[in-house]
Amino acid sequence: MKQIQSACPVRSDHPLSKAADIAYIRLGRKNLGSATEYYQDFGLDLMEKKEDRILFRGNSSDLPCWSLEKADRDFLIGLGIYVNSLDDFERLKALPNAEFLREGRINSIPCVTLIDPSGLPVDIMYVSEEKNKNQVDPSKELWNYPGESSRANLPRSYESRPAKIIRLGHAVFFKQEFLKNASWYCDTFGMIPSDIQILPGSKEPVIVFLRFDRGETLSDHHSIVIASGVTDSLEHCAFELDDLDEVAKGREWLLEKGHRSSWGIGRHLLGSQIFDYHRDPSGMLVEHYADGDKFDNSVPTGIHLINRKSLYQWGEDMPKDFLDTKLSLRKLLELWKGILSGRQISIRVLMELKKVADISPRTWIKY
Ligand SMILES: [Fe+2]
Repeated sequence: MKQIQSACPVRSDHPLSKAADIAYIRLGRKNLGSATEYYQDFGLDLMEKKEDRILFRGNSSDLPCWSLEKADRDFLIGLGIYVNSLDDFERLKALPNAEFLREGRINSIPCVTLIDPSGLPVDIMYVSEEKNKNQVDPSKELWNYPGESSRANLPRSYESRPAKIIRLGHAVFFKQEFLKNASWYCDTFGMIPSDIQILPGSKEPVIVFLRFDRGETLSDHHSIVIASGVTDSLEHCAFELDDLDEVAKGREWLLEKGHRSSWGIGRHLLGSQIFDYHRDPSGMLVEHYADGDKFDNSVPTGIHLINRKSLYQWGEDMPKDFLDTKLSLRKLLELWKGILSGRQISIRVLMELKKVADISPRTWIKY
Protein backbone atom coordinates (compact mmCIF):
# COMPACT_ATOMS: atom_id res chain seq x y z
CA MET A 1 0.00 0.00 0.00
CA LYS A 2 1.28 3.48 -0.91
CA GLN A 3 2.05 5.87 1.91
CA ILE A 4 -0.52 8.64 2.26
CA GLN A 5 0.24 12.01 3.78
CA SER A 6 -3.29 13.28 4.39
CA ALA A 7 -6.50 12.01 5.88
CA CYS A 8 -8.41 9.73 3.52
CA PRO A 9 -12.10 8.94 3.30
CA VAL A 10 -12.78 5.67 5.14
CA ARG A 11 -15.78 3.39 5.60
CA SER A 12 -17.74 4.49 8.63
CA ASP A 13 -18.18 2.17 11.63
CA HIS A 14 -21.59 3.67 12.37
CA PRO A 15 -23.07 5.26 9.24
CA LEU A 16 -26.50 6.89 9.45
CA SER A 17 -27.77 4.51 6.77
CA LYS A 18 -26.62 1.83 4.39
CA ALA A 19 -27.93 3.02 1.07
CA ALA A 20 -28.43 0.55 -1.77
CA ASP A 21 -28.09 2.27 -5.13
CA ILE A 22 -27.99 5.47 -7.09
CA ALA A 23 -31.54 6.28 -8.23
CA TYR A 24 -31.38 9.26 -10.55
CA ILE A 25 -29.64 12.40 -11.72
CA ARG A 26 -31.44 15.70 -12.28
CA LEU A 27 -30.01 18.08 -14.86
CA GLY A 28 -31.02 21.61 -15.81
CA ARG A 29 -30.97 22.11 -19.58
CA LYS A 30 -31.40 25.28 -21.66
CA ASN A 31 -32.45 23.32 -24.71
CA LEU A 32 -34.72 20.47 -23.69
CA GLY A 33 -35.49 19.57 -27.32
CA SER A 34 -31.94 18.76 -28.40
CA ALA A 35 -31.19 17.03 -25.08
CA THR A 36 -34.29 14.83 -25.39
CA GLU A 37 -33.38 13.82 -28.92
CA TYR A 38 -29.82 13.08 -27.86
CA TYR A 39 -30.70 10.85 -24.92
CA GLN A 40 -33.08 8.80 -27.05
CA ASP A 41 -30.21 8.20 -29.48
CA PHE A 42 -28.03 7.44 -26.46
CA GLY A 43 -30.40 4.60 -25.55
CA LEU A 44 -32.58 5.80 -22.67
CA ASP A 45 -36.33 5.10 -22.71
CA LEU A 46 -38.47 8.23 -22.77
CA MET A 47 -41.12 7.76 -20.07
CA GLU A 48 -42.63 11.20 -19.47
CA LYS A 49 -42.54 14.36 -21.54
CA LYS A 50 -43.80 17.64 -20.10
CA GLU A 51 -43.04 21.16 -21.23
CA ASP A 52 -40.62 21.76 -18.37
CA ARG A 53 -39.36 18.22 -17.63
CA ILE A 54 -38.44 15.05 -19.49
CA LEU A 55 -37.98 11.75 -17.66
CA PHE A 56 -36.08 8.73 -18.92
CA ARG A 57 -35.52 5.24 -17.57
CA GLY A 58 -33.33 2.23 -18.25
CA ASN A 59 -34.63 -1.23 -19.17
CA SER A 60 -34.26 -2.72 -15.71
CA SER A 61 -36.73 -0.50 -13.88
CA ASP A 62 -39.98 1.37 -14.38
CA LEU A 63 -38.61 4.23 -12.25
CA PRO A 64 -36.92 7.24 -13.86
CA CYS A 65 -33.14 7.47 -13.63
CA TRP A 66 -32.59 10.64 -15.71
CA SER A 67 -34.47 13.92 -15.40
CA LEU A 68 -33.91 16.82 -17.79
CA GLU A 69 -35.48 20.00 -16.45
CA LYS A 70 -36.00 23.31 -18.23
CA ALA A 71 -33.50 25.89 -16.96
CA ASP A 72 -31.72 29.04 -18.05
CA ARG A 73 -28.35 27.23 -17.95
CA ASP A 74 -26.91 23.72 -18.20
CA PHE A 75 -26.14 22.44 -14.72
CA LEU A 76 -26.50 19.64 -12.17
CA ILE A 77 -29.63 20.07 -10.06
CA GLY A 78 -29.32 17.06 -7.78
CA LEU A 79 -29.23 13.31 -7.41
CA GLY A 80 -31.34 10.56 -5.92
CA ILE A 81 -30.35 7.56 -3.81
CA TYR A 82 -32.34 4.46 -2.76
CA VAL A 83 -32.28 2.94 0.70
CA ASN A 84 -33.72 -0.55 1.28
CA SER A 85 -34.42 -0.07 4.99
CA LEU A 86 -37.37 1.88 6.32
CA ASP A 87 -35.46 2.45 9.58
CA ASP A 88 -32.63 4.06 7.60
CA PHE A 89 -35.12 6.25 5.77
CA GLU A 90 -36.74 7.39 9.02
CA ARG A 91 -33.34 8.11 10.57
CA LEU A 92 -32.36 10.34 7.64
CA LYS A 93 -35.80 11.98 7.70
CA ALA A 94 -35.28 12.95 11.34
CA LEU A 95 -32.01 14.79 10.62
CA PRO A 96 -32.02 18.55 11.17
CA ASN A 97 -32.49 20.38 7.85
CA ALA A 98 -33.93 17.28 6.18
CA GLU A 99 -36.81 18.18 3.88
CA PHE A 100 -39.61 15.62 3.48
CA LEU A 101 -41.59 15.46 0.23
CA ARG A 102 -44.54 13.12 0.62
CA GLU A 103 -45.34 13.24 -3.11
CA GLY A 104 -41.77 12.48 -4.14
CA ARG A 105 -39.50 14.56 -6.34
CA ILE A 106 -39.51 13.07 -9.85
CA ASN A 107 -41.42 9.88 -9.09
CA SER A 108 -44.26 9.22 -6.67
CA ILE A 109 -42.03 7.75 -3.96
CA PRO A 110 -41.86 9.87 -0.78
CA CYS A 111 -38.40 11.34 -0.44
CA VAL A 112 -36.19 13.09 2.06
CA THR A 113 -33.80 15.69 0.74
CA LEU A 114 -30.46 16.34 2.41
CA ILE A 115 -27.88 18.85 1.24
CA ASP A 116 -24.34 17.55 0.83
CA PRO A 117 -21.38 19.70 1.96
CA SER A 118 -21.04 21.23 -1.52
CA GLY A 119 -24.68 22.40 -1.42
CA LEU A 120 -26.02 19.69 -3.74
CA PRO A 121 -29.54 18.38 -2.96
CA VAL A 122 -29.59 14.60 -2.43
CA ASP A 123 -33.02 12.92 -2.48
CA ILE A 124 -33.33 9.68 -0.53
CA MET A 125 -36.15 7.25 -1.22
CA TYR A 126 -37.10 4.00 0.46
CA VAL A 127 -37.75 1.12 -1.92
CA SER A 128 -37.88 -2.55 -0.97
CA GLU A 129 -34.88 -4.65 -1.90
CA GLU A 130 -37.13 -6.56 -4.28
CA LYS A 131 -38.05 -3.38 -6.16
CA ASN A 132 -34.43 -2.34 -6.33
CA LYS A 133 -33.05 -5.62 -7.59
CA ASN A 134 -32.59 -4.36 -11.13
CA GLN A 135 -34.20 -7.45 -12.58
CA VAL A 136 -32.51 -8.01 -15.89
CA ASP A 137 -32.80 -10.87 -18.32
CA PRO A 138 -29.29 -12.17 -18.86
CA SER A 139 -27.89 -11.34 -22.27
CA LYS A 140 -29.12 -13.75 -24.92
CA GLU A 141 -26.06 -13.11 -27.04
CA LEU A 142 -23.91 -16.17 -27.54
CA TRP A 143 -20.12 -15.97 -27.76
CA ASN A 144 -17.69 -18.46 -29.21
CA TYR A 145 -14.53 -19.10 -27.21
CA PRO A 146 -11.65 -21.37 -28.25
CA GLY A 147 -12.81 -24.88 -27.36
CA GLU A 148 -16.33 -23.70 -26.44
CA SER A 149 -18.60 -22.68 -29.31
CA SER A 150 -21.98 -21.57 -27.97
CA ARG A 151 -22.89 -20.08 -31.34
CA ALA A 152 -22.35 -23.16 -33.51
CA ASN A 153 -23.71 -22.74 -37.03
CA LEU A 154 -25.16 -19.29 -36.21
CA PRO A 155 -23.76 -16.07 -37.67
CA ARG A 156 -23.76 -13.08 -35.31
CA SER A 157 -26.87 -11.02 -36.07
CA TYR A 158 -26.76 -7.24 -36.37
CA GLU A 159 -29.35 -4.52 -36.14
CA SER A 160 -28.71 -0.80 -36.29
CA ARG A 161 -30.32 0.83 -33.22
CA PRO A 162 -29.54 2.81 -30.07
CA ALA A 163 -27.85 0.93 -27.21
CA LYS A 164 -30.17 -0.88 -24.80
CA ILE A 165 -29.43 0.84 -21.52
CA ILE A 166 -29.95 -1.37 -18.48
CA ARG A 167 -29.54 1.23 -15.73
CA LEU A 168 -27.79 4.32 -14.44
CA GLY A 169 -24.53 2.97 -13.03
CA HIS A 170 -22.52 5.82 -11.54
CA ALA A 171 -21.89 9.53 -11.35
CA VAL A 172 -18.56 11.31 -10.92
CA PHE A 173 -18.56 14.61 -9.06
CA PHE A 174 -15.90 17.27 -8.79
CA LYS A 175 -15.89 18.85 -5.33
CA GLN A 176 -13.89 21.79 -4.08
CA GLU A 177 -13.70 20.15 -0.66
CA PHE A 178 -12.72 16.56 -1.45
CA LEU A 179 -12.39 14.99 1.99
CA LYS A 180 -15.40 16.73 3.52
CA ASN A 181 -17.71 15.59 0.72
CA ALA A 182 -16.30 12.06 0.41
CA SER A 183 -16.56 11.55 4.17
CA TRP A 184 -20.15 12.83 4.14
CA TYR A 185 -21.20 10.15 1.62
CA CYS A 186 -19.41 7.46 3.69
CA ASP A 187 -20.91 8.62 7.00
CA THR A 188 -24.42 9.32 5.70
CA PHE A 189 -24.91 6.40 3.31
CA GLY A 190 -22.37 3.83 4.55
CA MET A 191 -20.46 3.96 1.29
CA ILE A 192 -17.18 2.04 1.05
CA PRO A 193 -14.10 3.48 -0.65
CA SER A 194 -13.27 0.76 -3.21
CA ASP A 195 -10.18 2.57 -4.46
CA ILE A 196 -8.48 5.87 -3.68
CA GLN A 197 -6.06 7.67 -5.97
CA ILE A 198 -3.31 9.85 -4.58
CA LEU A 199 -1.01 12.43 -6.15
CA PRO A 200 2.46 11.10 -6.99
CA GLY A 201 4.30 13.99 -5.31
CA SER A 202 2.41 15.07 -2.20
CA LYS A 203 0.56 11.73 -1.79
CA GLU A 204 -2.64 13.72 -1.20
CA PRO A 205 -5.82 11.72 -1.94
CA VAL A 206 -7.74 13.33 -4.80
CA ILE A 207 -10.20 10.71 -6.12
CA VAL A 208 -12.28 8.14 -4.29
CA PHE A 209 -14.43 5.44 -5.92
CA LEU A 210 -17.33 4.73 -3.57
CA ARG A 211 -19.57 1.64 -3.58
CA PHE A 212 -22.69 0.88 -1.63
CA ASP A 213 -22.40 -1.55 1.28
CA ARG A 214 -25.00 -4.25 0.61
CA GLY A 215 -23.32 -6.84 2.81
CA GLU A 216 -22.72 -10.06 0.90
CA THR A 217 -24.76 -8.80 -2.04
CA LEU A 218 -22.59 -7.50 -4.85
CA SER A 219 -22.43 -3.79 -5.59
CA ASP A 220 -20.86 -1.90 -8.44
CA HIS A 221 -17.19 -1.07 -7.79
CA HIS A 222 -18.32 2.55 -7.76
CA SER A 223 -21.71 4.23 -7.84
CA ILE A 224 -20.47 7.64 -6.74
CA VAL A 225 -17.00 9.04 -7.36
CA ILE A 226 -15.73 12.16 -5.63
CA ALA A 227 -12.78 13.96 -7.25
CA SER A 228 -10.94 17.05 -6.12
CA GLY A 229 -11.94 19.89 -8.43
CA VAL A 230 -11.80 23.61 -9.09
CA THR A 231 -15.62 23.74 -9.09
CA ASP A 232 -18.47 21.68 -7.62
CA SER A 233 -19.82 20.00 -10.73
CA LEU A 234 -20.80 16.77 -12.44
CA GLU A 235 -17.92 15.28 -14.43
CA HIS A 236 -19.79 12.39 -16.06
CA CYS A 237 -22.54 9.83 -15.64
CA ALA A 238 -22.36 6.23 -16.79
CA PHE A 239 -25.00 3.76 -17.92
CA GLU A 240 -24.68 -0.01 -17.85
CA LEU A 241 -25.14 -2.08 -21.01
CA ASP A 242 -25.08 -5.84 -21.57
CA ASP A 243 -21.64 -6.35 -23.06
CA LEU A 244 -18.89 -5.11 -25.36
CA ASP A 245 -21.00 -5.76 -28.43
CA GLU A 246 -23.77 -3.55 -27.07
CA VAL A 247 -21.26 -0.79 -26.25
CA ALA A 248 -19.93 -0.92 -29.82
CA LYS A 249 -23.44 -0.96 -31.31
CA GLY A 250 -24.41 2.06 -29.21
CA ARG A 251 -21.30 3.87 -30.46
CA GLU A 252 -22.14 3.08 -34.09
CA TRP A 253 -25.65 4.49 -33.69
CA LEU A 254 -24.49 7.73 -32.05
CA LEU A 255 -21.82 8.32 -34.70
CA GLU A 256 -24.29 7.53 -37.48
CA LYS A 257 -26.63 10.16 -36.04
CA GLY A 258 -23.83 12.72 -36.12
CA HIS A 259 -23.27 13.00 -32.36
CA ARG A 260 -19.91 13.78 -30.81
CA SER A 261 -17.79 10.93 -29.51
CA SER A 262 -15.30 11.69 -26.77
CA TRP A 263 -13.20 8.66 -25.84
CA GLY A 264 -13.41 4.95 -26.40
CA ILE A 265 -13.75 2.12 -26.73
CA GLY A 266 -11.39 1.01 -23.96
CA ARG A 267 -11.26 -0.72 -20.59
CA HIS A 268 -10.79 1.14 -17.31
CA LEU A 269 -8.26 0.09 -14.71
CA LEU A 270 -10.12 0.85 -11.47
CA GLY A 271 -13.57 -0.68 -11.86
CA SER A 272 -12.50 -2.56 -15.03
CA GLN A 273 -15.44 -1.35 -17.14
CA ILE A 274 -15.35 -1.52 -20.91
CA PHE A 275 -16.15 2.12 -21.63
CA ASP A 276 -17.21 4.44 -24.39
CA TYR A 277 -17.60 8.16 -23.69
CA HIS A 278 -19.66 10.66 -25.62
CA ARG A 279 -20.66 14.29 -25.15
CA ASP A 280 -24.28 15.37 -24.96
CA PRO A 281 -25.37 18.62 -26.70
CA SER A 282 -24.34 20.66 -23.62
CA GLY A 283 -20.81 19.15 -23.81
CA MET A 284 -21.28 16.96 -20.71
CA LEU A 285 -19.63 13.56 -20.75
CA VAL A 286 -21.81 10.46 -20.68
CA GLU A 287 -20.58 6.89 -20.72
CA HIS A 288 -21.82 3.55 -21.97
CA TYR A 289 -20.14 0.70 -20.07
CA ALA A 290 -20.22 -3.07 -19.60
CA ASP A 291 -18.45 -5.72 -17.52
CA GLY A 292 -17.62 -3.52 -14.51
CA ASP A 293 -16.27 -5.01 -11.26
CA LYS A 294 -18.82 -6.10 -8.67
CA PHE A 295 -17.69 -6.25 -5.03
CA ASP A 296 -19.35 -7.33 -1.80
CA ASN A 297 -18.42 -5.52 1.41
CA SER A 298 -15.38 -7.74 2.12
CA VAL A 299 -12.99 -6.12 -0.39
CA PRO A 300 -10.59 -3.66 1.28
CA THR A 301 -9.77 -0.21 -0.06
CA GLY A 302 -7.01 0.00 -2.66
CA ILE A 303 -4.61 2.95 -2.85
CA HIS A 304 -3.07 3.94 -6.19
CA LEU A 305 -1.08 6.75 -7.71
CA ILE A 306 -2.99 8.95 -10.13
CA ASN A 307 -1.97 9.72 -13.68
CA ARG A 308 -3.72 9.64 -17.03
CA LYS A 309 -2.50 6.11 -17.66
CA SER A 310 -4.18 4.95 -14.44
CA LEU A 311 -7.55 5.59 -16.09
CA TYR A 312 -7.34 2.71 -18.55
CA GLN A 313 -5.68 -0.60 -19.27
CA TRP A 314 -6.28 -0.59 -23.04
CA GLY A 315 -8.15 1.35 -25.64
CA GLU A 316 -8.23 4.27 -27.97
CA ASP A 317 -5.81 7.07 -27.09
CA MET A 318 -7.32 9.42 -24.54
CA PRO A 319 -8.00 12.72 -26.31
CA LYS A 320 -6.25 15.72 -24.84
CA ASP A 321 -9.53 17.47 -24.05
CA PHE A 322 -11.04 14.46 -22.23
CA LEU A 323 -9.90 15.76 -18.86
CA ASP A 324 -11.02 19.36 -18.83
CA THR A 325 -8.06 21.03 -17.15
CA LYS A 326 -8.47 24.46 -18.70
CA LEU A 327 -9.08 27.23 -16.18
CA SER A 328 -11.92 29.22 -17.71
CA LEU A 329 -13.07 32.52 -16.26
CA ARG A 330 -16.22 30.82 -14.95
CA LYS A 331 -14.16 28.19 -13.14
CA LEU A 332 -11.83 30.78 -11.65
CA LEU A 333 -14.80 32.80 -10.42
CA GLU A 334 -16.29 29.71 -8.77
CA LEU A 335 -12.94 28.92 -7.20
CA TRP A 336 -12.68 32.46 -5.87
CA LYS A 337 -16.25 32.27 -4.56
CA GLY A 338 -15.42 29.01 -2.78
CA ILE A 339 -12.33 30.50 -1.15
CA LEU A 340 -14.23 33.64 -0.07
CA SER A 341 -16.99 31.53 1.48
CA GLY A 342 -14.40 29.86 3.71
CA ARG A 343 -14.08 26.53 1.96
CA GLN A 344 -10.97 24.48 2.65
CA ILE A 345 -9.57 24.48 -0.89
CA SER A 346 -5.97 23.51 -1.49
CA ILE A 347 -4.63 25.41 -4.50
CA ARG A 348 -1.42 23.38 -4.17
CA VAL A 349 -3.34 20.12 -4.62
CA LEU A 350 -5.32 21.51 -7.57
CA MET A 351 -2.11 22.67 -9.26
CA GLU A 352 -0.44 19.27 -8.77
CA LEU A 353 -3.55 17.53 -10.08
CA LYS A 354 -3.59 19.73 -13.18
CA LYS A 355 0.09 18.99 -13.79
CA VAL A 356 -0.51 15.24 -13.53
CA ALA A 357 -3.59 15.41 -15.77
CA ASP A 358 -1.63 17.24 -18.46
CA ILE A 359 0.96 14.47 -18.85
CA SER A 360 0.27 12.21 -21.81
CA PRO A 361 -0.62 8.64 -20.78
CA ARG A 362 1.51 7.31 -23.60
CA THR A 363 4.88 8.96 -23.92
CA TRP A 364 4.91 8.34 -27.68
CA ILE A 365 1.90 10.61 -28.09
CA LYS A 366 2.90 14.25 -28.39
CA TYR A 367 0.24 16.59 -27.03
FE1 LIG B 1 -17.29 6.24 -15.52
